[in-house]
Amino acid sequence: MKIAVAGTGYVGLVAGVCFAEVGHDVTCVDIDEKKVKLMESGVSPIYEEGLEELMKKNNATGRLHYTTDYASAYKNADAIFIGVGTPEMPDGSANLSFLATVCRQIAENVEHDCLVVVKSTVPIGTNDKVEQFIKDFLVRDVKVEVASNPEFLAQGTAVRDTLHAARIIIGTESKEAEDKLMEIYEPFGLPIVSVKRRSAEMIKYACNDFLALKISYMNDIANLCELVGADIEDVAKGMSYDARIGERFLNAGIGFGGSCFPKDTKALRFLANQHGYELKTVDACVEVNKLQKTRLFEKAKDRMITFAGLKVAVLGLTFKAGTDDLREAPASENIKLLLDQGAEIYAYDPAGVPRAKQQFPEGEISRGIMRYVDTPELALEGANICFIFTEWGEIKAVKPADYKRLMRTPLVYDGRNLHAVEDMKAAGVEYYSIGR
Ligand code: UGA
Repeated sequence: MKIAVAGTGYVGLVAGVCFAEVGHDVTCVDIDEKKVKLMESGVSPIYEEGLEELMKKNNATGRLHYTTDYASAYKNADAIFIGVGTPEMPDGSANLSFLATVCRQIAENVEHDCLVVVKSTVPIGTNDKVEQFIKDFLVRDVKVEVASNPEFLAQGTAVRDTLHAARIIIGTESKEAEDKLMEIYEPFGLPIVSVKRRSAEMIKYACNDFLALKISYMNDIANLCELVGADIEDVAKGMSYDARIGERFLNAGIGFGGSCFPKDTKALRFLANQHGYELKTVDACVEVNKLQKTRLFEKAKDRMITFAGLKVAVLGLTFKAGTDDLREAPASENIKLLLDQGAEIYAYDPAGVPRAKQQFPEGEISRGIMRYVDTPELALEGANICFIFTEWGEIKAVKPADYKRLMRTPLVYDGRNLHAVEDMKAAGVEYYSIGR
């Protein structure tokens, strides 16, 4: 099958590469010439384990191409997958302008019947509008149908999540569209759930918001554990054996971040409000997460007289391990608060520093100072206080005794529960974590 993919971010590029891997002829479209050259040489513009290997392999087979020339990519494609971003607008709604641009380019260039498949996360009902929009702008007498095919990959495990997905969701309004998508996905050998378009769109939001809710629920219970003397790790373990609850996404911590959960919880809430419905569960999830992100900072603020002039070690900048993405990362919010209070920050992250430098350039910011170092040890040396924001292996590898040895005062606020409370205590570290 001849496939074109619009957007070479996490969703588009990973889908394109995996389609080529299972045998389809794929062209990935991006407006950035430099990025296209980079991808042609087998370099991935995003940090994602295993992706470059597959790019190199499939570039060599001749099944995977990249271009800025969208007209030629779209004109003869059997299917065009759209994986462009749908970022959050200030009011919480989804920004669909990238999607609209691509749809217009498709409408103006397709030369024969084709299926347009929306992978981007879009509010329920958007694909109906997308189909109408494309029809309105078509310049040739061809049939274009739109299908929904939401993506469930997580950053850091994107390739694995795609090739070994728990299920493929396809949302179509005709047998023809359903058959075509079935044929495209057949080589993956994965379960396919075929539903109507609006249900497919809803499945995506319902999944993301459910997982976000699960995390906020655990964070809420963790905070209560602290007050009543229970241990959230033990509680989560006990819960995980119940197959109805499941063992994943039970980790309490510094709150969820990333480009998806924060955006998709707000978008569904916005959509519900538009329909005059109050989505109280999701409202609560958003509220709990907002408070959770600065919970350790507030605790530390209570403990200290001031952060002004203190050397603060920040371990972890990205919103989770395995990615260089800083979007909605709890670390960013806390760094801002610390700088406003006059802290001198020494930050370490194995992948997030280049992006962090765009947000917080090295040097004086607000009342504080921002510095970046290459190892956790350099961040900890002589520090008055340490915050752990990301669960990187390199950060987990720092031993309790190292905190005691390296820091001026061994005072650690751990947003990821990386260490056993007893071990830190035994090493002589004053240790605050989540829910224990
Ligand atoms: C999420 C979903 O997991 C994917 O299924 C979905 O396709 C994707 O959003 C998307 O809509 O594109 P992602 O944001 O990459 O993927 O990352 P997750 O691994 O889900 O983590 C999200 C946040 O939740 C992170 O900040 C993570 O630290 C936090 N989290 C996760 C917890 O605090 N506790 C947990 O137990 C699990």
